[in-house]
Amino acid sequence: MKSVNKVPIWFMRQAGRYLPEYMEIRSKNSDFLRLCFNPELASEISLQPIKRFDLDFIILFSDILVIPHALGQHVRFLKNHGPSLSRINSKKDINYFNFSECLRKISNIFETIKILSSKKGTKNLIGFCGGPFTVLNYMIEGGTSKTHSKIKKFVKDNKKEALDLMKIITELSIEYLKKQIESGANYIQIFESWAGLLENDEYIEFIVKPNKHISDEIKKDAKRINIIHFPRGSGKNYKIFAEEVYCDVLSLDHSYPQELLGFLREKNVTVQGNLDPKELLGDAKNVEEKTKEVLEKFKSNNHIFNLSHGILPSTNISNIETVIKVVREHETSK
Ligand code: CP3
Repeated sequence: MKSVNKVPIWFMRQAGRYLPEYMEIRSKNSDFLRLCFNPELASEISLQPIKRFDLDFIILFSDILVIPHALGQHVRFLKNHGPSLSRINSKKDINYFNFSECLRKISNIFETIKILSSKKGTKNLIGFCGGPFTVLNYMIEGGTSKTHSKIKKFVKDNKKEALDLMKIITELSIEYLKKQIESGANYIQIFESWAGLLENDEYIEFIVKPNKHISDEIKKDAKRINIIHFPRGSGKNYKIFAEEVYCDVLSLDHSYPQELLGFLREKNVTVQGNLDPKELLGDAKNVEEKTKEVLEKFKSNNHIFNLSHGILPSTNISNIETVIKVVREHETSK
């Protein structure tokens, strides 16, 4: 007889602006980074979606841009505008000589993880960082960008400088993740949200190699840790990524090639994803159908249910409840 199992579920950006209880705390804390560095409040926010929906994974409430902050770049989050970072052009513009000093600036995050670890019970606890290229993208663009023209030009015209900065970000991220693991995270996710900007040799140099280095260094020290990679928008390069970079879990958007699923099955890599967050803006019936489609698509793979990108702030909570209900009612023989 086949054993019956459930598909575990969590949502990228599960702690955030679609939740009134988050907005309540946020309204009293106008400085977003300070909120990230407040262990009491950050742990409370991380647990908000768990209390409400009983999800299987807790994700640390923080942001990928704490790394530029740790490197001495001025990072602010402006209301209705997103992040804003001071201008840098080279490693001369940041403080990278002493990683312990950099990590000390963000060490409250480790306190948040310790609190969460003491409260996690049987849930999984995800620590995270940005993929090195995605972090570099924000450092060079100075914030959110539609065209990404600065980073593309920087990679082409100043490749040596770009790779030097990548090296610093990568090495610091490894130390940062190790501390998160020491503090109690049993999963880590690397958000390479802008992997899709690069192709060919640049994809190998700026996406594959640094992410591989992170995985190898983390696995060397901490074999029990589960590593989730999310090279969003990689398209056909998802396959190259999965061939080269050690992943316990690969988070997928909609750009992956069909043959990837069989390949991941053979390699025993779990698939994470991939309901489009825009579907959560529609009606319940549609949400139910789309959720079932995702379960069906990945039924032959080990699967963690999630979205293809973060929850949008205007998402209706009842739609999140519908997704969870459908996933919980679903039984898999995997
Ligand atoms: O997933 C979670 O619930 C954990 C916390 C988390 C946040 N950001 C909190 C946040 C995580 C994992 C992130 C990752 C992150 N941050 C990424 C990678 C994933 C992705 O979305 O591609 C990126 C690129 C960032 C950088 C960032 N942070 C941007 C561009 C913005 C502004 C736009 C936006 O989506 O809000 C943020 C702000 C941010 N990070 C908020 C939250 C809850 C909203 C801040 C607010 O309350 O105003």
